[in-house]
Amino acid sequence: MRATLLLFIGYIVILLGCEQNEDTLPIIPDDLPDEQIGHDQSDDNGSITIGLSMDTLIEERWKKDRDMFKEAVEALGAQVIIKAANGNDALQVTQAETMISQGVDLLVLVPHNAEAAATIVGKAQMAEIPVISYDRLVKNANVDLYISFDNEQVGMLQAEWVTDLVPTGKYVYIGGAATDNNAHLMKEGVFSVLQPLIEQGDITVVYDQWTEAWTPVNAKRNMQAALEANYNDIDAVIAANDATAGGVIEALAEQGLAGKIPVAGQDAELAGIQRVYTGKQAMTVYKSIRELTEQAADIAVKMARGEQIETELTINNGKKDVPTVYLTPVPVHKDNIYETIIADGFHSETEIFVDDR
Ligand code: GAL
Repeated sequence: MRATLLLFIGYIVILLGCEQNEDTLPIIPDDLPDEQIGHDQSDDNGSITIGLSMDTLIEERWKKDRDMFKEAVEALGAQVIIKAANGNDALQVTQAETMISQGVDLLVLVPHNAEAAATIVGKAQMAEIPVISYDRLVKNANVDLYISFDNEQVGMLQAEWVTDLVPTGKYVYIGGAATDNNAHLMKEGVFSVLQPLIEQGDITVVYDQWTEAWTPVNAKRNMQAALEANYNDIDAVIAANDATAGGVIEALAEQGLAGKIPVAGQDAELAGIQRVYTGKQAMTVYKSIRELTEQAADIAVKMARGEQIETELTINNGKKDVPTVYLTPVPVHKDNIYETIIADGFHSETEIFVDDR
């Protein structure tokens, strides 16, 4: 009898509670943002940890990637662990292994070597940790998603700009690191524009070399060799990024040719923008690191929560068609620095126009 009575009372309480809830829940307007619904999405992300395994922090942009990605992940309420391997493949594997054993929920990977990094993807997969290939594609590996800029388009923008300035003549191509899949995509983009002009006989590529580890010193050495082999008779240079363009322009300066031979770069590094402004460099390509890191953080946290991410694009990395998110690069030259770089706050006026003060 007693038990039945208690059961009955309990049932009444539940009933009253439900009813209460339904009746007493505030009327929530549809457009009320999440955070006002008393249910803070980022609360749910509190337990999520994203690992970011970086190749290097040498180039200026990677420091921005690191800081902006951390900001974006934390703004979503999740945590982030960041490690950089200074261009050392073995160290990158060890660092990734540590993050995997620390139990990160997802690994964001900027591979130093597109092939060697497949080992890291294999280890993460064994631990059922999804992997996002960030900016650079890992080849021949079961990557879950790839996010970057359209790197072929980067090369096309460079070549279109320079061939407008120099429609005929002798060209030098200073490529990026052959270990980096981006360097290959950028070169494909450049030559997709140059090839028809080469076939027409308007342009001759008299020197074409990869730059080990993307360093300015190696790029300078390449350009010195190109100048020597062609008795300084060069009409244009396309360098895979601003760091290598800086090395190229140092070599040109040694021959009194800086500012006389158009040089294309990429990354909109501060020094690159200053050279574009002073006329020593013809153009660079701006990639909004803010946009890349915010989209990557958003996707990473969603995937770490087990959400499926649909993409319009896939890119085959030799193992599978990898779901891909591509962002759009922007060409920057002397006349659009304000509406691109400064408007986005990538560099400030005071930083760029130091010599004008
Ligand atoms: C590439 C990247 C470029 C460039 C380079 C050197 O993969 O897309 O922005 O900076 O690495 O680190």
